[in-house]
Amino acid sequence: MKKIGLFFGSDTGNTEEIAKKIQKLIGNDLVTLYDMYDAKKTDFEQFDKIILGLSTWHDGQLQSDWDSFFNDFQSISFTNKTVALFGLGDQFVYCDYFIDGVGILGEVVINNGGKIIGKWPTDGYEHTSSKAEKESGVFLGLAIDEDNQYELTEERINKWSVQIKKEFNL
Ligand SMILES: Cc1cc2nc3c(=O)[nH]c(=O)nc-3n(C[C@H](O)[C@H](O)[C@H](O)COP(=O)(O)O)c2cc1C
Repeated sequence: MKKIGLFFGSDTGNTEEIAKKIQKLIGNDLVTLYDMYDAKKTDFEQFDKIILGLSTWHDGQLQSDWDSFFNDFQSISFTNKTVALFGLGDQFVYCDYFIDGVGILGEVVINNGGKIIGKWPTDGYEHTSSKAEKESGVFLGLAIDEDNQYELTEERINKWSVQIKKEFNL
């Protein structure tokens, strides 16, 4: 079995595209992709290394497939699991809710016993507020803004992939 489960939800395809790139950067042989459109709770239970990816919609709401799954998600035990998160958002139009979904999922992971890796500095982003910024200056996971800073995406995912590989001890 592959070592990492990468679970993503995407409404217009941006997060899906980034998920596939991250899978390739970490190694197709190491990462299995799951679209939250049809992922199940049992899919999470097979992995102790997990990556969660999502966009945020409608003033701080979870992407629609994550939103539908959220009750099940809250019942997953993350004890002995290491989790990295990445989020897509728009830091200008939705500056008060930038990648809030990362904060919402991350909080469940922490409350349910998981260890979070892949934290990311807020330098270079111009949001006002984010549920993903639990401690000032640090996002709980990687922030990607395809709407305003697509030219920075490749560098960000390259760097983050190296970082989480190390933090996953791979
Ligand atoms: C109607 C609408 C609402 C949005 N709400 C938010 C939001 O609250 N916070 C945020 O960071 N981004 C928000 N966004 C930006 C999306 O998250 C962003 O475009 C993302 O790349 C979409 O990814 P997806 O195609 O994987 O769903 C919103 C976009 C739209 C069109």
